[in-house]
Amino acid sequence: MEWLNLSVRWVHMITGVAWIGASFYFVWLENNLNRINPRDGLAGDLWAIHGGGIYHLEKYKLAPPTMPDNLHWFKWEAYSTWMSGVALMGVVFYANPTLYLLAPGSSLSGVEGIAIGIGSLIAGWFIYDVLCDSPLGKRPALLGLILFVLLIGAAFGFSKVFSGRGAYLHVGAIIGTIMVGNVFRIIMPAQRALVAAIADGRTPDPSLPAKGLLRSRHNNYFTLPVLFIMISNHFPSTYGSQYNWLILAGIAVLAVLVRHYFNTRHNSHAFAWTLPVAALGMICLAYVTGPAQMSTDAASAARASGVDFNKVHSVIQERCAVCHSAKPTSPLFSTAPAGVMLDTPQQIQQLAPRIQAQAVISQIMPLGNITQMTQQERDLIGAWIDKGAQTH
Ligand code: HEC
Repeated sequence: MEWLNLSVRWVHMITGVAWIGASFYFVWLENNLNRINPRDGLAGDLWAIHGGGIYHLEKYKLAPPTMPDNLHWFKWEAYSTWMSGVALMGVVFYANPTLYLLAPGSSLSGVEGIAIGIGSLIAGWFIYDVLCDSPLGKRPALLGLILFVLLIGAAFGFSKVFSGRGAYLHVGAIIGTIMVGNVFRIIMPAQRALVAAIADGRTPDPSLPAKGLLRSRHNNYFTLPVLFIMISNHFPSTYGSQYNWLILAGIAVLAVLVRHYFNTRHNSHAFAWTLPVAALGMICLAYVTGPAQMSTDAASAARASGVDFNKVHSVIQERCAVCHSAKPTSPLFSTAPAGVMLDTPQQIQQLAPRIQAQAVISQIMPLGNITQMTQQERDLIGAWIDKGAQTH
């Protein structure tokens, strides 16, 4: 399973880089075209140097008079990113729903969880598509706001039934599906119609390129939030928080602001303020998710009374060492997950900060809380760490 995960994840990352890289490049190209006195029929041109070569690119207003022999399309990057992404959802979340997908103690069965997950991807696309084609499509700012509220609503809903990671990744997968749907259902058909018209010697319908514009613009603003969600697994203080959906909303707003600056900087620096605001926003998020805000009354009580390491050791033996051991007894793991072994007092002491992050502050360990760790036990470990994590 680990090697399957590695292979699929690797492919997903490579195709994702190719897709988003190409899309960033074309946005940049569009924004930096020299539009002063273009040759007849051209929208503009651009000179660039890269890898030791000098390139001269030209963009047509609508279409060249005849089709070139070899026209490059950019679509398989998007499709393969989506296909490998769905496969990765399967390998990580759906192969082991109780451990990874469902919220600890959830009353849902694995199959129900998977159905909600897959159903939400499909529903997400159809709701989005209907909204874009409705009269709202003519009011992009309002539509953008509605999409944002709906997506955060989905994040809130997921956070009630899924683990933090499951919730985040499903929001990311809904957005990713919308982005690929835009390529597959809107942008590609419009481009095919354009190319067919040129090939038949007809004058292409000038509204064709505009058709994909709203959708491309959405894809453009979706990229940074999606990229955050895809790396969010590494950051338990985001998805592991009780208010993970609000944190996601905050990060998404900051990401969209930053994207907006990069979209507009070619003709004005009017949005340069978004960069320091985003940095400040990240600092605020770091502050509000910090440990001090999360300690409970029980933890302060335990702290006041002092803690005995033997108790901590037996809690970790019982709740963690089934997986985190040189020889895990859990049938799910043949080696200690993430290389984290919690057998000896020295190992526990050395890993205290990571134990605190995973089992006290964010409570994402034990995975799916399958060993049924209690709040008192978390408080006990938290108090022991606060007191300096002594083993005697
Ligand atoms: C069901 C098996 C299981 C149990 C029980 C479990 N873990 Fe984990 N743990 C994992 C897996 C799998 C990973 C690998 C990373 C991941 O998938 O999140 C992990 C990763 C970790 C990490 C490394 C994360 C990092 O990057 O710092 C720490 C620390 C950790 N667990 C601590 C604990 C503690 C403390 C307990 C007990 C309170 C516990 N785990 C119980 C399965 C388990």
